[in-house]
Amino acid sequence: MKILAFAGSLRKASWNKKLLRFAAEILRGMGHEVEEYDLSELPMMNEDMETRGPPPIVGKFRDAVAAADALLISTPEYNHSVSGPTKNAIDWLSRPPNNVLAGKVAAIMGATTGVDGTVHAQRELRWILARLACLVLPWPWVLLRFAEKRFDNEGKLTDDKLAETVETLVQSLVDTAGKLK
Ligand SMILES: Cc1cc2nc3c(=O)[nH]c(=O)nc-3n(C[C@H](O)[C@H](O)[C@H](O)COP(=O)(O)O)c2cc1C
Repeated sequence: MKILAFAGSLRKASWNKKLLRFAAEILRGMGHEVEEYDLSELPMMNEDMETRGPPPIVGKFRDAVAAADALLISTPEYNHSVSGPTKNAIDWLSRPPNNVLAGKVAAIMGATTGVDGTVHAQRELRWILARLACLVLPWPWVLLRFAEKRFDNEGKLTDDKLAETVETLVQSLVDTAGKLK
């Protein structure tokens, strides 16, 4: 399987990037191909840009998603919703000539330094992706709270139960994508 993965954070030391990497390594260990897409060069959605023809980086991102068998997204939570970079990425993917998220299978996760583990952001992310006919796995929820205390120096999750949940999620992602292929 070819999996396109992105974290909705522009921060170098992002916990969501660490969580994404952890999940990506599990998938690679299973023999799958994972591209971890860095959103930092993606411009903010601007319809004037669309009228002029969006910059090549937008086309590259859209093509990478279109070519993937499945998506893996890790979103931060900003003010009880998805982060700006997460929403911006989705907005670019949703636009004409076609919504490249339609019919794609996606697994979502989230990491926060806060107490709620991004549950509010993920609930909203499910709603946004449903609008775009993107098939989000209903279960399990990967809610990483107090993220600053949950990784070792090698980027491994120190919470075994959560690590198992990540494994279940990515296994379910490739199983579901395989059935739909
Ligand atoms: C603008 C802003 C709003 C935030 N709001 C929330 C929030 O509602 N809930 C929460 O748990 N954490 C919130 N945080 C803290 C983030 O979870 C924390 O900064 C986290 O490390 C961001 O993810 P990252 O490490 O992948 O960049 C907020 C952070 C920012 C910058």
